[in-house]
Amino acid sequence: MADQWETLERECGQCRGCSLWETRKHLVFDAGSRTAEVMLVGEGPGASEDEQGIPFVGRAGQFLDDMLEIIGLDRTRVYISNIVKCRPPGNRDPLTVEQDACIGFLRRQTALLRPKIIVCLGRIAAMQIIKPDFKITREHGVWFERGGVRMMAMYHPSALLRDPSRRPETFDDLKSLEREIRSVCKRTYPSE
Ligand code: URA
Repeated sequence: MADQWETLERECGQCRGCSLWETRKHLVFDAGSRTAEVMLVGEGPGASEDEQGIPFVGRAGQFLDDMLEIIGLDRTRVYISNIVKCRPPGNRDPLTVEQDACIGFLRRQTALLRPKIIVCLGRIAAMQIIKPDFKITREHGVWFERGGVRMMAMYHPSALLRDPSRRPETFDDLKSLEREIRSVCKRTYPSE
């Protein structure tokens, strides 16, 4: 299994399927545990992530850590990745062609991980993973099922930094996530 992860990460680093590799500093492949039951998917790396080659290490990442802490988790107990693995210049949203070029890697990551729960962080991940017409304001916190995997979307941590008025709804979504994890995952919370 470790070999398969390494092969996938190496292939991803060599990918030339779109032009984002030309301006990136580092590939940003994943973080957390490759045996986790819960997968979190963001949009794409920002400047700090590109510098360090690790997802969610900038301000949004610190806020994500705070969100996980609210439900008694940290990044060692979940798996974290993004829709695109190279930084879109100037922090723009990844273009559809870039997302489409990269999504095969996320599918292969999901096939190796076999998560019980997928949490989409923000609209872009939700539109790729849950459904193309996903409306984050209306459908955050709603549970969907795809091929036996439970999934939901929450507001992206960057959106919560920009607009704190959305935080109370996100608190409810986090509590719903905690309940779902307790009901379908066996290893995420150490037995109490
Ligand atoms: N925002 C994302 O969507 N992903 C990261 O890795 C960092 C910020």
